[in-house]
Amino acid sequence: MSASISLKKATKVFDGAVRAVDAVDIRIEAGEFFSLLGPSGCGKTTTLRLIAGFETPSSGQILLGERDITGVPAHKRDMGMVFQNYALFPHRSVNQNVAFGLRMRGMDKAEIARKVAWALELVSLGGYGDRRPDQLSGGQQQRVALARAIVVEPTVLLCDEPLGALDKKLRQQMQFELKELQRNLGLTTVFVTHDQEEAMAMSDRLAVMNDGKVEQIGTPAEIYNTPESRFVADFIGDANVMTCRPSPGSEGWELEDGTPIPPISGGKGACVVALRPERVDVRPAAGLSNGVHGVIESVNYLGGATLYRVRLEGSAHRLLAQAANATGTPPMTVGTAVALSWAQTDLVLLKE
Ligand SMILES: Nc1ncnc2c1ncn2[C@@H]1O[C@H](COP(=O)(O)OP(=O)(O)O)[C@@H](O)[C@H]1O
Ligand SMILES: [Mg+2]
Repeated sequence: MSASISLKKATKVFDGAVRAVDAVDIRIEAGEFFSLLGPSGCGKTTTLRLIAGFETPSSGQILLGERDITGVPAHKRDMGMVFQNYALFPHRSVNQNVAFGLRMRGMDKAEIARKVAWALELVSLGGYGDRRPDQLSGGQQQRVALARAIVVEPTVLLCDEPLGALDKKLRQQMQFELKELQRNLGLTTVFVTHDQEEAMAMSDRLAVMNDGKVEQIGTPAEIYNTPESRFVADFIGDANVMTCRPSPGSEGWELEDGTPIPPISGGKGACVVALRPERVDVRPAAGLSNGVHGVIESVNYLGGATLYRVRLEGSAHRLLAQAANATGTPPMTVGTAVALSWAQTDLVLLKE
């Protein structure tokens, strides 16, 4: 049975000074794949350890379903955990590694063998039971760690950067596998990562954390399309974050240095907006009078698209613009004069 998890004003202060987790309010629904995303040191691991019971909150509460588990020790919380470094027993077989949690519970041998086989089958390692961890690849070792976590049929699965040590291709494959496994088991999963693409790809919802606090919670699309703060806009994908104001003495709008820009709907007075590069139309300026003009300063070929950095005319401001690549049409080159335009609805007004 999977269960929801609630953090209520959960706070962890280390050594009386470091507020690693600062009044965090999160509710993770039963069966949800939920990620904690943020830069190194923002408090992801500490938040996960509070949920697991490896740390006691300095203040606040942790609930499993509607039950307050704040004071319940880790081994009585019925949660499975997977770490980046696998943490397998090196001298024991795969079977013994996976069986560990079941032995601790005093289950009989036949039942243990049956469950271990089931878990190894789930992670596509049927037949590997007699090997030792050092006879397996990194990806296989992480699958053993995953099997060890799910074999006890936990109510919650906690993962701390579990795919961090894998190379890109394998990592992507494991993302698919983990997600599929999670969905099939309906397992409430809290997944820690500093990799925004990974969090976007895997999560039903995610919390973006910064400096011990939650900046924003939402679905990947909500977080990407409507970031609420400069931090979220910058951390997730690429963003043009612009400080704008109405031009003094005219109907128009401008950037801080006076560069004219299209008007901003809903903006009253000075404001900060975010604009995604792929929402910026970029084309050769030749013959165009509309739009914001500039010169391409650098070109990043991304395969399916090209990302341009454009320095605005008569200004030190630079905007990112991304255009899909069409077969047979090469990307524009550095030095090309371009006109940029966007729809007013693509500007996201930030709180800060
Ligand atoms: N046991 C500890 N003692 C003191 N400070 C700690 C301890 N664990 C974590 N911290 C500090 O708390 C902050 C958050 O750490 P952590 O939760 O590990 O962040 P993340 O997982 O996001 O990288 C960091 O400043 C870290 O140095
Ligand atoms: Mg960490």
